[in-house]
This record gives sequence, C-alpha cells and structure tokens, in this order.
Amino acid sequence: MQVKWVKLKNFRNYNEAVVEFSPRINLISGQNGQGKTNLVEAVMLNALSKSPRTAHDEDLKMQGETHTEAEVCVSRNYGDVTIKCVIDSECGKKFFINSNEVKKVSDIFGSLVAVYFSPNDLKIVSESPAERRDFMDTDISQLSGSYYNLLQRYNKILFQRNRLLKTVHDKTLLADQIDIWNEQLASVAGYIVKTRKNFIEKLKEPAKATMKYMTKEADNLDIIYVGAQGETAEEIKAEILKSLKFNFEKDIELGYTSVGPHRDDIKFALNGKDAKVFASQGQQRSIVLALKLAEIEVFEKEIGEKPILVLDDVFSELDSSRQKKLYDKFEGGQVLMTGTMFRFKPAEDYLALTVKNGVVKSKITQKKVKNS
Ligand SMILES: Nc1ncnc2c1ncn2[C@@H]1O[C@H](COP(=O)(O)OP(=O)(O)OP(=O)(O)O)[C@@H](O)[C@H]1O
Ligand SMILES: [Mg+2]
Repeated sequence: MQVKWVKLKNFRNYNEAVVEFSPRINLISGQNGQGKTNLVEAVMLNALSKSPRTAHDEDLKMQGETHTEAEVCVSRNYGDVTIKCVIDSECGKKFFINSNEVKKVSDIFGSLVAVYFSPNDLKIVSESPAERRDFMDTDISQLSGSYYNLLQRYNKILFQRNRLLKTVHDKTLLADQIDIWNEQLASVAGYIVKTRKNFIEKLKEPAKATMKYMTKEADNLDIIYVGAQGETAEEIKAEILKSLKFNFEKDIELGYTSVGPHRDDIKFALNGKDAKVFASQGQQRSIVLALKLAEIEVFEKEIGEKPILVLDDVFSELDSSRQKKLYDKFEGGQVLMTGTMFRFKPAEDYLALTVKNGVVKSKITQKKVKNS
C-alpha cells in the first residue's frame, strides 16, 4: 500500500497543505523545527487513531485555532481509500472513511497500516512496562479493530472494579460485589493476553533472525510475554481469576487492581539476560531495529501487502550495514524518511521533499544514468 497524498488544515505548524508522495522513497528534509515530524505525524494519526508522540489531541491543532483536519489518501490493491481525522473544540475528535463518519474509531484500523520508527522507540526496551504494553497494543490494534475494542472494554471494567475498591469500605459487602467484576475482567483479559501472546510468538522469530544477522551471529534475542500462564483464553482467564482472588486484600489496601494485562510486560532477553538491565545502548538500539523489521514482516504476512514504513529521524543514525538491511526489507514498499540531511542517496528515483516553516516543496530526483 502507499500513501498518495496528505491534506492538512491548521495541523500543528501547517496552515493549509496538500503533499503528494512517491509510491517508493520519500526523503523529507529540512532544518530542525520546520515540520518534518508534524507531516509524518499526520499520516500516523490516520493509521493509529492517535498521534505517536502526544496523548493530547489538542496539541495537534495549530496554536490559536479551534479546528484541525488531517486527511490521507491510501492506495490499496483493492482501490483508493481516504481517511480523515477532524479535531474540533466543540465536536471533539472524529474519523471519516471515504467521507463517511465511522461509528467506532476501530473502523479505521486496517485501511492504512504503517510501521513507525523514531528515536523515541528506544524506550520500548529501556523504560517502563507501560511503553512495552503500548507498543504491543498499538501494533495489534492496527491489525485488529476488535482487539482495540476489547481493550476499551477491559479498561471500562477495570475502572468499575477500581471504583468499587476505593468506595466500598465494608469488606464483606465488597467481597460480595466484586465477584461479578472479577468474572467480567478475567473473561476479557483472557482474550487480550491470548492475542498478545500470539503476536509475540509471530514477532519472535523474525526479530531473533535479524538480531543474529546484524551482530554476525553473536547476539541471541528472545522475546517473552510476562503475564498470566495458560495456552487458551479459557486457561488464561482461570489463572487471572485466581490471581484476582488471591490479591483481593492487597487490592483493597492499594485501592486499585494490581494484577491483569494492564500490569503485564514483555521481556527482551539478550543472550539469556534481561536487555533492559544488561544490554548496552548500541545493543538496545539493535533490538529496537530488529523489532521494527520483524513488525514489517508480521504486518505484511497478516495483511497480504507491504505496510508503509515511516522513519522519523532514525535512518541517518544507523550504520551502513543496518541501513542496507532496512532498505532491503523494504524492496518495493513505500518509505517516508525524515532527517535534517541525507548523506545516503537511494540507488533509484526518489522524491525529495523540503520542509520550511510548515511549507513543503518537492522534487523528483532521478537516478543518474551513466552514458556509455
Ligand atoms: N500546535 C501547534 N501549533 C503551531 N505550531 C506548532 C504546534 N505544534 C508544534 N508546532 C511547531 O512545529 C515545529 C516543530 O515541528 P516538527 O516537530 O515537525 O519539527 P521537525 O522538522 O521534525 O524538527 P526536528 O528536525 O528537530 O525533528 C516547531 O516549530 C513547533 O513550534
Ligand atoms: Mg522531527
């Protein structure tokens, strides 16, 4: 699939803009703070239903404005699709597919599938479990709108259970009332954990193979889901139900639910040791790159088309062998890359886009053909 164009209205530092992309390589360059990331952020907003860099939709509106729009046109093997996100101070956030408002946010997933890679992704390995859960949930949601809906449902039930823990102070009464929430929570949790485990299983092998390739067989990477035991959703549900009951007293003291998929984690084991603690910065960077390459592979298998690849400020940071690995993986696919400057020159025609103060200029750069 390819993004054909992006149309922006009062989006970040873009007043009004229509930017067309090449179906292959797009090099987006410009000085710091000119709007390169903003441009790819608008693309990602329509793939993920949220910005990859802020949880506050308000930030996306141009300062002083009350309304913003970001629309993308995606070319798929079954035809073109347009996806539009509108954020308005009065009407809130809405999505449209081919100009029709969607009933549920999850309806947009799958129309534009993208792998996004930015320097922030280092956090997936180095920071808290929340970063890793978000990585998994965002990826799986792109492939399955029903998974996204399941997460929403889980969070609602969790909220109710936590409210009960905080507001009912009579323990016997609480024990009576909490059972129904335990049952519902564990039911949904069983499916969530099962889906996450499946995803990690798919990601594991390609990530391991890439890590081996990048480190000339030196580093062995394993990815392990850390959460309730069990193979099937039913088995996982039973495990979670047991833990909820076991931790009841603790949860009362804390005033919130201390077990379940909202507390789970992924462990990256490098040569048998926890990469968060033992891996060097360079190794952590390689793990993230291996993960991103594995994502491309998993997405392509799942949707039967290449996803688009968005590299925000990362390509120039990679050494030439890693650049080549990434480049090869993307044979035939669309890439949007940002950077202040590109020393790398693609060995084929590419579109060079230059961003200055929210205005984009583009020019097709043709590969020089030597005269014989
Ligand atoms: N809501 C907003 N309204 C107006 N301007 C904004 C808004 N949000 C961000 N900006 C402006 O956008 C610019 C940053 O854009 P962006 O992050 O895309 O830069 P960049 O070209 O990717 O830079 P770098 O090379 O440093 O990553 C800044 O000048 C910032 O002030
Ligand atoms: Mg940037």
